[in-house]
Amino acid sequence: MAELLRTNRLLVRDWTTADAEAALKLFGHETLQRWAPEFAGLSGISDAAVMQDVLQRWAVEQRDMSPGTGRWALVALDGGALVGAISLLPMPVPEADVEIECQLAPEYWGRGYITEAAWALAHWAFEHSLVELFALVPPDNARAAATARRIGMEWVGESDKYHGQSLQVFRLRPDDLASAVRNTPG
Ligand SMILES: CC(C)(COP(=O)(O)OP(=O)(O)OC[C@H]1O[C@@H](n2cnc3c(N)ncnc32)[C@H](O)[C@@H]1OP(=O)(O)O)[C@@H](O)C(=O)NCCC(=O)NCCS
Repeated sequence: MAELLRTNRLLVRDWTTADAEAALKLFGHETLQRWAPEFAGLSGISDAAVMQDVLQRWAVEQRDMSPGTGRWALVALDGGALVGAISLLPMPVPEADVEIECQLAPEYWGRGYITEAAWALAHWAFEHSLVELFALVPPDNARAAATARRIGMEWVGESDKYHGQSLQVFRLRPDDLASAVRNTPG
């Protein structure tokens, strides 16, 4: 499996169908299901066979994705557990824009894992020709908004143009990332 990058505590790597059981535990967790927006395509993942199909589809799609985009698994370097997921995906409008999405298993919340991974992945994206990144956060998802701000994202407004529901829009540019460096683990 292809490794994308490593941070102090995490490995960011491609998904494989061998992840089906652990991925089902992650995406099927009731807390993550509660926060999974309909548009993310993660709701209704109910058993390992469905999960395996989804992972297979992601693997195929990954080969044709534009530079600077993709879907990856987050694995703890200490112990090798699958702890979360992180993606850079084209947004519906305009298509050239890219959204960062992430999910972390609830037992790992509060350790700075997503801040660490998102910060490193944003660096990678900016090195791969992206000039800005966005996050779309449901208004009641305070944790996701806090993470967006922690990596240096700036709130740029509220919009329903992306997925037909009102979402807080955060934007990250390379300079924002540089200014967030002192807040993030190396
Ligand atoms: C959004 C989500 C990924 C955030 O998880 P998280 O663990 O809070 O994210 P972070 O990596 O930013 O961690 C921040 C927390 O770790 C703490 N922390 C500990 N060590 C840290 C470190 N080295 N660096 C940064 N934060 C650290 C922070 O103080 C903060 O703690 P708090 O929860 O008490 O405020 C998680 O809640 C989730 O998966 N939610 C469901 C899916 C979802 O909403 N995804 C986003 C869709 S837009």
